[in-house]
Amino acid sequence: MTRSFLRDDDLTPAEQAEVLALATELKDEPYDHKPLAGPRTVAMVFDKPTLRTQASFAAGIAELGGHPMLVDGALAGIGKRESVADVARVLGRQASQIVWRTYAQSNLEEMAAFSGVPVINALTDEFHPCQLLADLLTIQEHKGTLAGITVAFLGDAACNMGNSWALAGVTAGMHVRFGCPEGYAPDADVLERAGALGAVGTGSTGGTVHVFDDPVAAVGGVDVVVTDTWVSMGKEDEAAARRDVFGTYAVTADLLAEARDDAIVMHCLPAYRGSEIAAEVIDGPHSVVWDEAENRRHAQKAVMSWLQAQSSSRA
Ligand code: NVA
Repeated sequence: MTRSFLRDDDLTPAEQAEVLALATELKDEPYDHKPLAGPRTVAMVFDKPTLRTQASFAAGIAELGGHPMLVDGALAGIGKRESVADVARVLGRQASQIVWRTYAQSNLEEMAAFSGVPVINALTDEFHPCQLLADLLTIQEHKGTLAGITVAFLGDAACNMGNSWALAGVTAGMHVRFGCPEGYAPDADVLERAGALGAVGTGSTGGTVHVFDDPVAAVGGVDVVVTDTWVSMGKEDEAAARRDVFGTYAVTADLLAEARDDAIVMHCLPAYRGSEIAAEVIDGPHSVVWDEAENRRHAQKAVMSWLQAQSSSRA
């Protein structure tokens, strides 16, 4: 079966560690590893806005010796002008891998089922697993390890980033806390899956996941403080109401003072200073957001290389 990377728990704990180790190697030697030489084409399809994802995939594909092919989702009309399955069949005949940013996870799954090539989730409404690999790489660089690290994710956790943090964090053996208002926790089935990944027993990672409605309780003594926009792409018409709901979960200097003195602050960007994060925090000494943005390229190169190797080992 062709391997794809559609959600964070598509990688076992051992595979996640392998991909992160590869990302570190690729970061050290960015131009020496050419698994996409040929060049092989990688299709990048975007149905939602993008900056970091498009730039980091395009640069990363080129560094791997491949050719990035940009497909405008609006022009292609995927699921409207033609079915997801037909688009998958067509792109799978042109490209070695498909990177897709879209709305429903179920459409991404359909793309993977019909394309015959590895498909990579470049963000859906439900998950953002490439961002999480970049985040884990960044934490490893700053903290030296992942297992046992405590993380607090503040604000809107009922989104792709909340779900992905629960799965990827526990896969890495981390203790993930969400500080969010009632109704804005990660999906119940995702929390259950994350809990099972960490639960005591054979193959467990020792990671844990907890939901708090008190932001101070969530942040108390953690190593890493994370937030994300309160208005994810596609939720723009709820913007005003969301600002009221999440106000007390903003990552301010006062809230950050509850974390460890050496805590790092992360944000996948784009950031709204004065909403989910204060300017003095994101632009301050604890922030590692630019490392995080750079690490998208290294982490995604590792994913593409790893998936290419999985495909070649089957051939
Ligand atoms: N939760 C955000 C992540 C942006 C990278 C969104 O979906 O808009």
